[in-house]
Amino acid sequence: MANIVEIDAPHLARDGAEVLENGDLLLLSTLPFVVAADEADFLDPAIFSGGSKNVSYNPADGSLRGVALEGEALVLCRNMVARYADFAEALAKRIAPRYGRALQRRRTSFRPGEVAQRVLSPRKDDRLLHVDAFPANPTQGRRILRIFSNVNPAGRPRHWRLGGQSFSEFAHQFAPRLKKGPNPIEAAALQALSITKGRRTPYDHAMLQLHDLGKADAQHQSQTPQQDAMLPALTTWAVYTDCVQHAAMAGQHLFEQTFLLPPNAMHDPEKSPLRILEGVMGRKLA
Ligand code: SIN
Ligand code: FE
Repeated sequence: MANIVEIDAPHLARDGAEVLENGDLLLLSTLPFVVAADEADFLDPAIFSGGSKNVSYNPADGSLRGVALEGEALVLCRNMVARYADFAEALAKRIAPRYGRALQRRRTSFRPGEVAQRVLSPRKDDRLLHVDAFPANPTQGRRILRIFSNVNPAGRPRHWRLGGQSFSEFAHQFAPRLKKGPNPIEAAALQALSITKGRRTPYDHAMLQLHDLGKADAQHQSQTPQQDAMLPALTTWAVYTDCVQHAAMAGQHLFEQTFLLPPNAMHDPEKSPLRILEGVMGRKLA
């Protein structure tokens, strides 16, 4: 069962990585990310530009996507999201100092919209329980560690559901339905056409199927063990979303920072979905 483990900041370095690698959610209930007074306008979902569900910041090149802003407002908004990226990175280093330079910072997102009102296809609907897998950004076996901060100004929690299966139980349940792949020619074509950034490996192929099969299975959604998690406003949490089944049911105003980590940098690489899936499927997935 994915537990919510509340840890006081001073104990982070000792326990944080163990909690996360065990498949639990680490809640820092006294650590808010503070939106400054001159940034408060950005909490209005009208800043979105058409179609996107997130504002997305790329720390590699400083670009901000998904906003209908220009000039000074764009700079101010980008600075806010960049500040969150730095906040989350500093926290990740405190939670897991031994990950060191192996921890790779990826995109930062800001989600000012209301989750409960999103109308999305079942595959994109994060109100359904799922493990994260990226169609366009293969992790090639690296872990997906995410840090979230609820900045809702009205004090509303982020309402999640957390699945109760271990990743191993989840993988065993769906393994008979997993198709082999990707065919190497197809993987090369996806990369050549820039549909994927990097090569989609058998691990990525399996994880994408687990994401889709789990969401599409109505019986699994309703009957798998699960609990509601009300993640309070003005708190921050960290979780390995590639192994913990989660669903976002309601809430508004969230920041999120994604990190990737090679399994060999974990305290216990045997707890990575890569190793667990390789065990379940009886073959290498590199
Ligand atoms: C998700 O990662 O599935 C959604 C998280 C959220 O927006 O609360
Ligand atoms: Fe997710």
